[in-house]
Amino acid sequence: MDMAQGGYVNVVLVTGGSSGLGKAMCERLSALGHRVYGTGRKPEQDPSGYHLLAMDISDSASVEKAVGEILQREGRIDVVVNNAGLGIQGAVEDVDPELALRLFDVNVLGAHRVCRAVLPGMRTRKQGTIVQISSIAANFGLPYRGFYSASKAALDRWTEAMRVELKPFGIRVVTVQPGEFRTRIADSRLRPQRIGEAYLERYEKAMAVLNGSLHYSRDPAELSAVIARIIRDPRPRTIYRVAQGVQKLSVLAKKLLPGHAFERMVAKHYE
Ligand SMILES: NC(=O)c1ccc[n+]([C@@H]2O[C@H](COP(=O)([O-])OP(=O)(O)OC[C@H]3O[C@@H](n4cnc5c(N)ncnc54)[C@H](OP(=O)(O)O)[C@@H]3O)[C@@H](O)[C@H]2O)c1
Repeated sequence: MDMAQGGYVNVVLVTGGSSGLGKAMCERLSALGHRVYGTGRKPEQDPSGYHLLAMDISDSASVEKAVGEILQREGRIDVVVNNAGLGIQGAVEDVDPELALRLFDVNVLGAHRVCRAVLPGMRTRKQGTIVQISSIAANFGLPYRGFYSASKAALDRWTEAMRVELKPFGIRVVTVQPGEFRTRIADSRLRPQRIGEAYLERYEKAMAVLNGSLHYSRDPAELSAVIARIIRDPRPRTIYRVAQGVQKLSVLAKKLLPGHAFERMVAKHYE
């Protein structure tokens, strides 16, 4: 049996391996000795240590082609990290249904397409690990990012159901909710064509708070270390929150505080 540093050599697929958190995961996991395939919509040549394949997670044929290529080369996929995703900004009223659908097609259905492509092989072998990169934002309806919160909350709910469904097949499903990390996610957020006059001032203030957040200085390598631990762990937890203490505390505060009191805190944060 091949051995990576600290365990078995896994064949790992990381969607969105071309940038940010996914790129850091590809670098870390390949340095540990795993056989890593990252993906991007228009990948350039393979970086050193791992492969980059073309995959658009909003296109089933593209997902199946990339998964097929890995299976042909390696004969199996042990671990999938569903990391590719997009942000969105804009008041709920300003986001038109087409834009919201574009986001859901990537953040909710993209990971679903990838799961459907890899699960037949994992079920046959009665083993596999799927790690879903959600967000701490899934826990709250964040103002001016309502559809981002909603997309990650939707991802978490079907993931929860799938975890129970896959347990009899020996397949482990783990949710990871990162806080803010230094990546290019802010630049690629979807945006409505027009920000309504009614929201403009508050929206701009909230975006200034968000984009100025010191938390965005966190190194993606921190998250990739957690992913490496999850893969190695024989009994991973159902959910990992990799966020600043205050963000993790907010999840608890939402459970404990009366609704209006918690939402006053949220509004104040973005003023
Ligand atoms: N950074 C944060 O603070 C943070 C916090 C919480 C959660 N997250 C989540 O972490 C994940 C990674 O985000 P990031 O911060 O690393 O952002 P990023 O630097 O913008 O990277 C996003 C990745 O997703 C890929 N991607 C986007 N749309 C895609 C599509 N339709 N098909 C295939 N790949 C697609 C991009 O690849 P190409 O553009 O090359 O195709 C890129 O590799 C996302 O799911 C995000 O929601 C990030």
